[in-house]
Amino acid sequence: MPILETKKITKHFDGVYAIDGLSVGFEEGKITGLIGPNGSGKSTLINLLTGTFPFDKGSVVFSSSEEVKELLPYEVSDYGITRTFQDVRLFEQMPVIDNILVVLTKRNVVSSLFEKHKKFHLDKAEEVLKKVNLWEKRDELAVNLSYGQRKLLEIGRILAMSDGFGNNSNIFFFDEPFAGLFPEMRKIVIGVIEHLKQQGKTVVLVEHNIDIIRELCDHVIVLDNGKLLAEGTPDEALAKREVMDAYLGE
Ligand SMILES: Nc1ncnc2c1ncn2[C@@H]1O[C@H](COP(=O)(O)OP(=O)(O)OP(=O)(O)O)[C@@H](O)[C@H]1O
Ligand SMILES: [Mg+2]
Repeated sequence: MPILETKKITKHFDGVYAIDGLSVGFEEGKITGLIGPNGSGKSTLINLLTGTFPFDKGSVVFSSSEEVKELLPYEVSDYGITRTFQDVRLFEQMPVIDNILVVLTKRNVVSSLFEKHKKFHLDKAEEVLKKVNLWEKRDELAVNLSYGQRKLLEIGRILAMSDGFGNNSNIFFFDEPFAGLFPEMRKIVIGVIEHLKQQGKTVVLVEHNIDIIRELCDHVIVLDNGKLLAEGTPDEALAKREVMDAYLGE
């Protein structure tokens, strides 16, 4: 059963239909790959489902039975939704470890920084930073990290959100988490996504690397021009003629 479904949602920008009457569902506890050529609407769909922009028409249905016509940014975390950004967003002027602690404590950013952190928060932050290989960098400001390390810190924040400290995220959108990463870093991200699945979380993965899609995904949704082009298991969806044509036609 889908944990989240879109019903004919539409979003246009200056006459371009970035998402065009799209109805798709994301199965609970599964990893769904969201693929399609550049500009096909993948990031826009994530933006709509995380309240970054309002949609023009249509609705979103949660398995918790609510149907909503509008998703407001501050309500999104109440629905258990969290995401990464294609262009990585962090608290740049804060140390690496504080970027994790603010997620773990679920207070507002300012009060969580002045709080004397409890030992279990510090232990958890250490565990998360070791998993994403950033423990050595814990006191560095986020802005000083390399591109790959920044992506790993964002993944670390996701990991912290999945572990239940005051945060009940259960739907995770990843927008091209592997782009620009070295192979060892890719392995870390794959490990995090597999860990989320083992915890029963729902993952939506935007990724251009088809080998990674085949390796990780249970189901694949292919977009083209904001519409559903194909869906199915990775083998089924990727074998479709129209999918190959859409990629070759780029
Ligand atoms: N904020 C915006 N303002 C204007 N147009 C936008 C905006 N965001 C997206 N678009 C347009 O919507 C369409 C879909 O873009 P989107 O970023 O969702 O594609 P994508 O599938 O994520 O592509 P990529 O693989 O390159 O990341 C494109 O035509 C894009 O130019
Ligand atoms: Mg995109």
